[in-house]
Amino acid sequence: MTASAPVGNALDAPGALVGGAQTAHVVGPPLWLLLELTYRCPLHCVFCYNPTDFANTGPELTTADWIRVLREARALGAVQLGLSGGEPLARDDLEEIVGEAHRLGFYINLITSGIGMTEARIKALKAAGLDHIQLSFQDSTREMNDFLSSTRTFELKVKVAQLIRAHDYPMVLNVVLHRLNIDHVEEILVMAERMGAQYVELANTQYYGWAWLNRDQLLPSRAQLQRAETATRRFRERVGAAMQIYFVVPDYFETRPKACMSGLGSVFLAIAPDGTALPCHAARMLPGLEFPNVRATDIGAIWYESQAFNRFRGDAWMKEPCRSCPEKAKDFGGCRCQAYLLTGDADNADPVCDLSPHHELVTAAVARAERVAGAREQVLTFRDHRVSIPVVIEEKRT
Ligand code: FES
Repeated sequence: MTASAPVGNALDAPGALVGGAQTAHVVGPPLWLLLELTYRCPLHCVFCYNPTDFANTGPELTTADWIRVLREARALGAVQLGLSGGEPLARDDLEEIVGEAHRLGFYINLITSGIGMTEARIKALKAAGLDHIQLSFQDSTREMNDFLSSTRTFELKVKVAQLIRAHDYPMVLNVVLHRLNIDHVEEILVMAERMGAQYVELANTQYYGWAWLNRDQLLPSRAQLQRAETATRRFRERVGAAMQIYFVVPDYFETRPKACMSGLGSVFLAIAPDGTALPCHAARMLPGLEFPNVRATDIGAIWYESQAFNRFRGDAWMKEPCRSCPEKAKDFGGCRCQAYLLTGDADNADPVCDLSPHHELVTAAVARAERVAGAREQVLTFRDHRVSIPVVIEEKRT
């Protein structure tokens, strides 16, 4: 998934007034709810955004816990539901969770690698009310798909794509791009066309989790990026409205940051497999945040009252140059996780912004990637549930 919430900023929505006299502002409901049902996953993707220390997290929530979360979040006004992981199909209560979400009136999107999907399961999920399936591929070639995930799953995914079509779901493909597959963009789009895709998300890697460990091996060169954009444009011209293609540019190549999550605590609420409530899926690593758990706290209190969700609301937390920047209402200072990983301080401006005093960290990473792009030996760290790797910020790793 991309790090931008797919629904608009909810500051105009009815909600509660949160904060002291100086920082009080209206907080809308958590319109976009993401349940990361499990960290279990049969794949070992090198770009996975799950935390690298997930082996240390507690046991998964029970079915009853998830259903309670759905009810509380819906009562608060949540409308969009993402079910992801890990691989959400690894939960054998997925159909039950979908069924309850459907009864409650959520629009339900399953974000899946496809592994674990069968004819029987897709029928059951359809009957339970699942609205939408987003299927990920790693590449258009079996070799690279299987290498990047360290599995033999390409054929299986092709079969799942056929199942999705056969059961009248819109065909929505997601391919995470990086140096090792970005030169195949044209072939990826042709594969999507062959599969009858209506929507394709070409999501350049966001560098959190396992992707952060592998950043220097995954960042594409600028020339690669330009070739991929040209190929996408050419393809769009040929297919017209038959396929919608979203090309998510890697923000390391930008000069203004993305409005990550439309600002933390604005519209997006993620629940990790162990019940930890997070204002973005990567926020668990941010120091100084006290993350509530749905086992002990209801969603209303989590959303409106908890320190973790209030910490980055409004602009009182911002440092310069964000605090006095006319664009702060547009990008909210960028991504807090990226600011932390790159500078060691989540209150700093996202260094993607060329007004940030730390912007040089981004340009240096891009320059380093250009230098090593031709190197033959690339040591990649594959996602592995047996190991726990602590997060290391930029200044300690270079
Ligand atoms: Fe952007 Fe966490 S990923 S704020």
